[in-house]
Amino acid sequence: MRIDVVTIFPDYLAALDLSLVGKARTAGIVDVRVHDLRDWTTDRHRTVDDTPFGGGAGMVMRPDVWGRAIADVARPEPSGEPDGAGVPGARAHLVVPTPSGRSFTQRTAEALAGEDHLVFACGRYEGIDARVAEHHRAAGGTVSELSIGDYVLNGGEVATLVMIEAVARLLPGVVGNPESLVEESHGAAGLLEYPVYTKPPAWEGLEVPEVLLSGHHARIHRWRRDEALRRTAARRPDMVRALDLAALDRRDLEVLAESGWTPRDGRLDREG
Ligand code: ADE
Repeated sequence: MRIDVVTIFPDYLAALDLSLVGKARTAGIVDVRVHDLRDWTTDRHRTVDDTPFGGGAGMVMRPDVWGRAIADVARPEPSGEPDGAGVPGARAHLVVPTPSGRSFTQRTAEALAGEDHLVFACGRYEGIDARVAEHHRAAGGTVSELSIGDYVLNGGEVATLVMIEAVARLLPGVVGNPESLVEESHGAAGLLEYPVYTKPPAWEGLEVPEVLLSGHHARIHRWRRDEALRRTAARRPDMVRALDLAALDRRDLEVLAESGWTPRDGRLDREG
């Protein structure tokens, strides 16, 4: 996979040299390139923004500077195959992090992990002129405006780091043991992950739950599912409401009932 990031703060993305993403880059699994948006400015002051039409506070990032940057980085390698939509660079999937975007979830990460080429456009100030996304779409490209959560950051850089990490760890060969991707929070089961423990078995007067030391795999599996259900019930009512009743067994319903959730009209609802 190729990933380009365009930003006015390239140093912010230095973390991509570290850890799993850094290793994936060294191993040739993902080719990440970080660019300074100001390289596409044409004036002496290297200006990237201007005042908003219609008035209001703050500055808006200029479409001409962004347009040149995206056209350059989205262009396929000269040796590469012809571009899908017949427009240079249109096949690159443009990701624009913004608090006004659709929610970025594990499903979004899975979808993006299937792409050949992602271009992240990190906006600052009040955002990027809306015509930049419109133009990429009109050229046959895909644009995803995505929010990593209901809070406002100073720019798209941190959100880009979050999304690249979530996507890169799904690429084959990045996570050492692919089994660890199977049971985690926000996986197919729609539950948060159960609590985990390691040695020593007693620490600061706190004991690891007996069942985990029992070696009894069926009992351990059931205990972990009970805990995942209890955690999800306590912390994420939205996830409980989204559970598919048909995928729950009798014991699941018992645990959920203990946590105050019962089936009503085909889905789980809080009692009372
Ligand atoms: N830029 C600023 N805030 C953001 C958020 N919550 N998600 C994605 N990009 C952002």
